Amino acid sequence: MTNSGSIQSTLQETRKFLPASEFSAQAHISSEEQYQSMWQKAKDDPAGFWGELSQELQWIKPWTEVISGEMPETRWFTGGQINACENCVDRHLTSWRRNKAAILWEGEPGDTRVLTYNDLHREVSKFANVLKKLGVNTGDRVTLYMPMIPELAIAMLACARIGATHSIIFGGFSADAVADRNNDAQAKIIVTADGGWRRGKEVPLKSAVDESLTKSHTVQKVVVVRRTGQQVHMQTDRDYWWHDLMSDVDPHCDVVPLDSEHPLFILYTSGSTGKPKGVMHTTAGYLLGTTMTSRWVFDLKEEDTYWCTADIGWITGHSYVVYGPLSNGSTVVMYEGAPNWPDEGRFWEIIEKYRVSIFYTAPTAIRAFIKWGDHWPQSRDLSSLRLLGSVGEPINPEAWMWYHRMIGQERCPIVDTWWQTETGAIMISPLPGISATKPGSCTRPLPGVVPEIVSKEGTPLEANEGGLLVMKQPWPSMLRTLYGDHERFKQTYFSTIEGAYFAGDGARRDADGDIWVMGRVDDVLNVSGHRLSTMEVESSLVAHPAVAEAAVVGFPHEIKGEGICCFVTLKTADSEGSDSLTADLIQHVRKQIGALATPDKIRYTAALPKTRSGKIMRRLLRDIAAGRESVQDTTTLEDLSILAKLRDSDDA
Ligand code: PRX
Repeated sequence: MTNSGSIQSTLQETRKFLPASEFSAQAHISSEEQYQSMWQKAKDDPAGFWGELSQELQWIKPWTEVISGEMPETRWFTGGQINACENCVDRHLTSWRRNKAAILWEGEPGDTRVLTYNDLHREVSKFANVLKKLGVNTGDRVTLYMPMIPELAIAMLACARIGATHSIIFGGFSADAVADRNNDAQAKIIVTADGGWRRGKEVPLKSAVDESLTKSHTVQKVVVVRRTGQQVHMQTDRDYWWHDLMSDVDPHCDVVPLDSEHPLFILYTSGSTGKPKGVMHTTAGYLLGTTMTSRWVFDLKEEDTYWCTADIGWITGHSYVVYGPLSNGSTVVMYEGAPNWPDEGRFWEIIEKYRVSIFYTAPTAIRAFIKWGDHWPQSRDLSSLRLLGSVGEPINPEAWMWYHRMIGQERCPIVDTWWQTETGAIMISPLPGISATKPGSCTRPLPGVVPEIVSKEGTPLEANEGGLLVMKQPWPSMLRTLYGDHERFKQTYFSTIEGAYFAGDGARRDADGDIWVMGRVDDVLNVSGHRLSTMEVESSLVAHPAVAEAAVVGFPHEIKGEGICCFVTLKTADSEGSDSLTADLIQHVRKQIGALATPDKIRYTAALPKTRSGKIMRRLLRDIAAGRESVQDTTTLEDLSILAKLRDSDDA
């Protein structure tokens, strides 16, 4: 700690990369002056700035006020009516775009589908009518638990068309997780598939839904897409095949005019307590945020072929596979399966095949590509690429440099985009036409984003002092509440630092004003770019009959970024568990939460180290978990230890 209560960061990275002049010349934001004036205007006159930009969307009824209310109760575009589906689909039908590819889809086994905007309009309208027939009304919640197939995007847009609020659950979550989320959202209908393909295996989704329904009683109907053809149980008067329902339904469905603040979706994410939070986004502000950031950050142009590899089950997929790019009328590549199936060259094959020009992926994937070897990308033609993006966790400089050299061939700007489920859209990121990028820095705030780095007491810090990352001004795509728990919403994001949104991350700003995000300062792990609460894993472990107490911490992991280390004390006298108990505990956590929560290490201990007041000394456990690991990436390790200090200054 320094005198100002900040944390010193040890990461020293001084390389800078400027965009090529040809790129800058054609970019949407093409000069520093343009950025500066946009940023300043958005800060000084947010209503004027966003009010003008709102003309980029198609409105059913114009708004009367751009911003009303103080953060956290800010509302956007009040008085206006709009429909997100109309903006992402219908508005492209009036020009030649109607026959432009909206979705270029590839299944893991190699099957393909192309949906033009016209096709998308027809399928979405039909499914919206199906939902209505099944009793879904405007305002009802619909759970989508599906693989990465076009029907997932169709179902989302169909919900948006009629004003049903979708709640998408990533297909890797377990039956229990589905039941919890259904119950919290009081979902009326669930749309799923028999299964999906992942690394050549069928992921059973319908059977997980069946199991979840024994614990979630609000769900009245289940719609099932036939994807893998595996045997599934269909219950009469509850379960229906997608293709049966779609075979005789009217292809015309009017869009429902919705208030700007109508809830578009709920997406569950982990917080620092055990219970997942239902982050709620509303229509107009979210759509404007994702539309503009897609254009600014990815420099989206009419002729681009854009591929974001995220699963739609995460916020990145919501905002940058579906709403942002489709609202811009782009062609989006969507891939169902794993990057290493049938071999480790699959992503590069897809880029070559579709001539992808913009590629957006996660550091965990990049680290895996590095491990798999350069010959995979080298054996493909990647010359169509013009821009690369990264999201989900801090990117280590080594991975950044490899991405720059091997995939970008030193030609493509890299946008390291910092944002969150809660922020809805990208907040801090290079602008590819103007930013000097630095390996590991997400650089500067986008127009409309006013971040500050402060001490725990809320004092703004000097350059290079690490502290808490907060937002001083509201932005249109920010979450509006945690579903059903507005108190928790206020407590989680707005009580740490007076008058500001607290993101949960630690960061520093360098002397150039560029931001370096270090990671979470709360008890949230970032495993392969996905958020997981240590307490969620702990409560799962203590629910096992053999476990007395558990403490879960993260440790630096070569591929996942952070791995999960569990310290466990047993109810029996022995402090050591058998190999079979270890295997059983791992299975138990996977079953309760899902495969992404699979513990990497289980360590048995007679007792957990505690402070006099009984608080588990997590910092000590983190050191133990990290210290016994042969760590190659010291950058990550150093950042983790800095964060440990930020989070647990009262540990001792
Ligand atoms: O810790 C930050 C990290 O991911 C968290 C948000 O996770 P989630 O809501 O699941 O959304 C992930 C995709 C938007 C943040 O609090 N994070 C995300 N992007 C970056 C990042 N950390 C550093 N650099 C990034 N570019």
